Amino acid sequence: SGSDATEQQSENTNDDATKPTFESRTIALGHATSDSENSHYHQGALKFKELVEEATDGQVTIEIHPNGVLGGEREMIEAVQLGTVDMVFTSTGPVGNFASKSNAFDFPFLFRDREHAYKVLDGEIGEEVNQQLESAGLKVLVWAENGFRNITNSTHPIKTPDDLKGVKIRTMENKIHLDSFRQFGADPTPMAFTELFTALQQGVVDAQENPLSVIIPNKFYEVQDYLTLTGHFYSPAPLIINKDLFDSFSPELQDVITKAAEEMRDFEREFIYQQEQEYLKIAEENGMEIIQADEYDFEAFFEAAQPVYEKYADEYGDILDRIIATE
Ligand code: PAF
Repeated sequence: SGSDATEQQSENTNDDATKPTFESRTIALGHATSDSENSHYHQGALKFKELVEEATDGQVTIEIHPNGVLGGEREMIEAVQLGTVDMVFTSTGPVGNFASKSNAFDFPFLFRDREHAYKVLDGEIGEEVNQQLESAGLKVLVWAENGFRNITNSTHPIKTPDDLKGVKIRTMENKIHLDSFRQFGADPTPMAFTELFTALQQGVVDAQENPLSVIIPNKFYEVQDYLTLTGHFYSPAPLIINKDLFDSFSPELQDVITKAAEEMRDFEREFIYQQEQEYLKIAEENGMEIIQADEYDFEAFFEAAQPVYEKYADEYGDILDRIIATE
């Protein structure tokens, strides 16, 4: 039981009076992607687990549930809100349905590069979005990343918005993403990631968009022949914990969890960066035709995206201006 573990722990650390003790507990953490060696979420989750377990002498264990076994991202966020799952490592895809401000991060061609994204997410604007999520019972520990999203397709290379005409593309369950792909000329369908591979395989959709860190570890090259490095959305990845659960922790455990999450974030961002060339190599080796970032019509996509900013100017204009002005 918890109190036995606490007693045992204090006996063990008698010679080190300053070392805090921790009640034994298990924390469940879900994510929707692969548990492979090159999966960013999984390697990030393993790092978080290692750090928490080390700092608590194994009293607190993190139980990782990969591959969407606990459901798609929307379902897992709901479960964290209800407290039936403790933590989720997710994209922002469905997050805006729980706290609308998070949608501000989902606009097309918004972030100039990853440093720009880190400044915004780790700064005041990230904090402002965190506060809204907290009032929905969801505490964001850190904003890690998913990366810049790219388009894959099974029938022909995508270089211009015209090439997307009528293409059935799966997007996340996110209204900004849906509007963006409508503006690009495609025929977007929102769908949970857990259904995507089969939908591509069976031709329910012809295309999808995700960062390389998802496309490669989840083997989309088996069902997609073309990859365009559009980088059309930056995709942040909040690590979220049930707020009441976090508030119930001792200050020492809160500190361990917060520090481990911050270290995980830095590790995970670096992991994606380091894997990039390797991901591209694997895509090529598996027969994908890659349309490089300077080989697609960026100007035409950028232009096509502008009505999305106009449509949401009242709701998001201010925060978008502040994001764009962040140096
Ligand atoms: O495409 C999605 O739904 C997300 O990018 C994914 C792959 C679940 C990672 O957050």
